[in-house]
Amino acid sequence: MKLKKNLFAILLLLSAVINAQNKLYTEQYRPQFHFSPATNWCNDPNGLVYNNGVYHLFYQHNPFGNVWGHMTWGHATSMDLIHWKHLPIAIPEENGVMIFSGTCVVDKNNTSGFGTNGKIPMVAVYTAHIENVNQSQHIAYSLDDGITWIKYANNPVLDLHKKDFRDPKIFWHQQKKYWVMALMFPVEHIVQFYSSKNLKEWQHLSDFGPAGDTSGVWECPDLTQVPVKGTLEQKKWLLQTSQNANMQYFVGEFDGVKFTNENPTNKIFRPDYGPDYYAAIAYNQLPATVLPTSIGWVNNWNYANDIPTTPWKSAMSIPRTLSVKKINNDWVLIQKPVAAIAGLRKNKITIDNAVVSDKKTLPIKSKQFEIECTIEPAASSVSGIRLATGTNNYFELGYDATKQIFYIDRSKSGNTTLNENFTKKDRFKKKITLQNKKIKLHIYFDNSIVEIFVNDGEAVFTAQLFSDKDDGGIELFSDGERQNLVVYIFGK
Ligand code: FRU
Repeated sequence: MKLKKNLFAILLLLSAVINAQNKLYTEQYRPQFHFSPATNWCNDPNGLVYNNGVYHLFYQHNPFGNVWGHMTWGHATSMDLIHWKHLPIAIPEENGVMIFSGTCVVDKNNTSGFGTNGKIPMVAVYTAHIENVNQSQHIAYSLDDGITWIKYANNPVLDLHKKDFRDPKIFWHQQKKYWVMALMFPVEHIVQFYSSKNLKEWQHLSDFGPAGDTSGVWECPDLTQVPVKGTLEQKKWLLQTSQNANMQYFVGEFDGVKFTNENPTNKIFRPDYGPDYYAAIAYNQLPATVLPTSIGWVNNWNYANDIPTTPWKSAMSIPRTLSVKKINNDWVLIQKPVAAIAGLRKNKITIDNAVVSDKKTLPIKSKQFEIECTIEPAASSVSGIRLATGTNNYFELGYDATKQIFYIDRSKSGNTTLNENFTKKDRFKKKITLQNKKIKLHIYFDNSIVEIFVNDGEAVFTAQLFSDKDDGGIELFSDGERQNLVVYIFGK
């Protein structure tokens, strides 16, 4: 490819951010700026809540092994959503009852009555899971800022005697002055809404669904209010659901009783168009100055247990801030990496006015970096970037100008045979219309995870890849004859 003017790239080196314990966090595939448990399995983020300057991250965890099982809430905290501190297990499996996904609130007005001696309780609501028998909603509380938890003596607080009924998300509804709980009828593809004055007694409010993508069981509903980008005051309600094994969202209104979707019902909207983003939920009780922020699980149930990482399995996405924007007739979710991640930048390489003909290898090898670039594709060209390049392998992301699609392709990215579903799931795409003839990409690569924010967060792609040890090259490519590529690269 040929590049005309203005090729500008900056590459920054980021530092490893998670506290290395002995040899942990030095393993080949270990992400450095994505949260992962020190050892053993994790899946969904749970109980995301902000309390006294601290962001809590609870998560589905197996303390006994590196595959799914013995579900327990693991716990970590952060002051900036980027640097995490591991804490002891929060809520353990007990007598064969697993602690499935749920959420957490700080009960500042002690509506639950769990607060004693003036202490403010944190209350967690989760699904108690008895394999093949029952799923019901339980609560537990903490009087020491989330470190130790006491299970409520009169659990369950909601039991419909169903085998599949899970993943409560609770939050305080300011106008109605009650707690709202969203939870799933997975098989029926229905989100149910309940209300409570005290977190203990719940009344059914309404149902939403089936809608949109009903190809897999629905899990992990998340209802949160988000700003409309570019306005000072306007807000909409964002309902995200996970259906094995990807996510979708709806945008509309929630009047404290009922959710109404305002997006076209014949279209499916996804918070992530890659293979490895699931069960995302948003933080509760953030300060007014912080944008709504969500975290998702970076893995896919079709092959999750077989990814070749040890002694841990799975990581969390970069926390993403959320807003919505009306584009034509659609409310589109806009996601951005949380601002604090820019603090990890170390070195930068700038490539300006580069012209790429066929390919151009960057003068750096790295598996932890951030790239910002703008590509101006020529008509009928395919152009983009290859990461983790080596003798035989690469991970490709690019824009096909003929088809007007942005795509990622991990078919040649190293170990692709860890599970046949991983082998099959090798290419992902979405139609993206160029803006002023350009497409903007913001890419984070972290050893085995790539997250790409397209056009300022209008679409996101998250994927895992397991490249060979030495596959650390980066190259720009194009097969177009008259290609303008403008690349800004930050990263490490
Ligand atoms: C989603 C999920 C939830 C469940 C949890 C169990 O990934 O299947 O529905 O609560 O994981 O670990």
